Amino acid sequence: MAPTSVQRPRSADPRGQYRVGIIGGGQLARMMHQAAISLGVDVRLLADAPDESAAQVMGDVQIGSHLDHDAVLAFGRDCDVVTFDHEHVPTDFLREMEAEGIAVRPGAEALVHAQDKAVMRARAAADGQPCPAWEICGGPEKLVAFGNRHGWPVIAKTSRGGYDGKGVWKVNGPDEVAEPFDAMGGLADGDQPIQILAEEFVDFTRELSAIVVRSPSGQAVAYPVSETIQRDGICVETTTPAPGMSDERQCEIQQMALDIAGRLGVVGVMAVELMERADGSVVINELAMRPHNTGHWTIHGSRTSQFANHIRAVLDLPLGDPSLTAPVVVMDNVLGGSVQDLTGALQHCFARDRSLHVELYGKQVRPGRKVGHVTCLGSDVADVQRRARDAAGYLMGRDNA
Ligand SMILES: Nc1ncnc2c1ncn2[C@@H]1O[C@H](COP(=O)(O)OP(=O)(O)O)[C@@H](O)[C@H]1O
Ligand SMILES: [Mg+2]
Repeated sequence: MAPTSVQRPRSADPRGQYRVGIIGGGQLARMMHQAAISLGVDVRLLADAPDESAAQVMGDVQIGSHLDHDAVLAFGRDCDVVTFDHEHVPTDFLREMEAEGIAVRPGAEALVHAQDKAVMRARAAADGQPCPAWEICGGPEKLVAFGNRHGWPVIAKTSRGGYDGKGVWKVNGPDEVAEPFDAMGGLADGDQPIQILAEEFVDFTRELSAIVVRSPSGQAVAYPVSETIQRDGICVETTTPAPGMSDERQCEIQQMALDIAGRLGVVGVMAVELMERADGSVVINELAMRPHNTGHWTIHGSRTSQFANHIRAVLDLPLGDPSLTAPVVVMDNVLGGSVQDLTGALQHCFARDRSLHVELYGKQVRPGRKVGHVTCLGSDVADVQRRARDAAGYLMGRDNA
């Protein structure tokens, strides 16, 4: 796909500054904003509510829903470039913005592969990328037939609208096939049709993440591949580079991710979630086209963070160096636990580990909710993981810290 042309500021700002619009007010927008401040870029936010993570800290906030056609279009018209905190803006709205000449980055044709897992699977298969066996199932009987053909358990997913494991089911046998179809209605994604995608259950030994960033003019960079741990569908830890992976294998996986980004014409950050089997082979799990939880380590562990490179990419500025700042980087998510006063709890964490890095998202603590993350750097995997787990555990109220 041809790269979109470089866009100059359209906004009437007398300082001639770019205005980047971010749709979605979560922590990713908050951290993109932080990166944009250093570049002198104005950021405008479309958020659901003023108390959302990014809306709390940004000066230019429009309150409105990403599912409200008129609100999204009006927001886009006021920005030089529009980008995203999540992938749930209806694809039709994005196409309409593009038809009006608004720079949407990533563009609708690329982003749909992160919005719709069925579209992604079809494209990856056509491009010869490694995928588990998969099939769109029009009803429970099709899911039974898929399981009987490929073996139980199977994974069932909603094609759209899922996140953090919501919309993914491990189906152990024919008597469990109804649940995904029953739950589908609760995951409406605007007016977009949702389908059930069946996937072969991949008995992976670990999950990996390959993060790349691509600009409209086609420049791209790849971060070192991370090992990721997901628990109940939520990322809890990343270790970078993935322990035990050879440099050659690192390069092959980075190359695969760069190839996907180039073929799809991605602009900005793209994360390729992968599952690695015991023989070292990998299959693609899903794509995300925005800064990703598995890339939070880059804020302190890379010379240029995923957030800084995302902002550079959407403005078509040359991308920054993605290389590591330490031999081992571990990020642990802080999920809501028994500690309400997270900032107060830093007293202990910082006293214990003076090289600890912490990002807190300003979100009210609720059980299991992503409220922050910690990053530790070092040279010994076990030691760095222990430090990160201790700090995150303390902030979650675990007494093993
Ligand atoms: N085909 C599969 N086989 C085994 N486990 C899977 C499969 N697909 C997904 N999973 C597990 O479910 C998690 C969530 O699935 P994913 O499609 O990434 O959903 P989400 O959009 O919620 O992140 C994955 O990180 C992985 O642990
Ligand atoms: Mg996922």
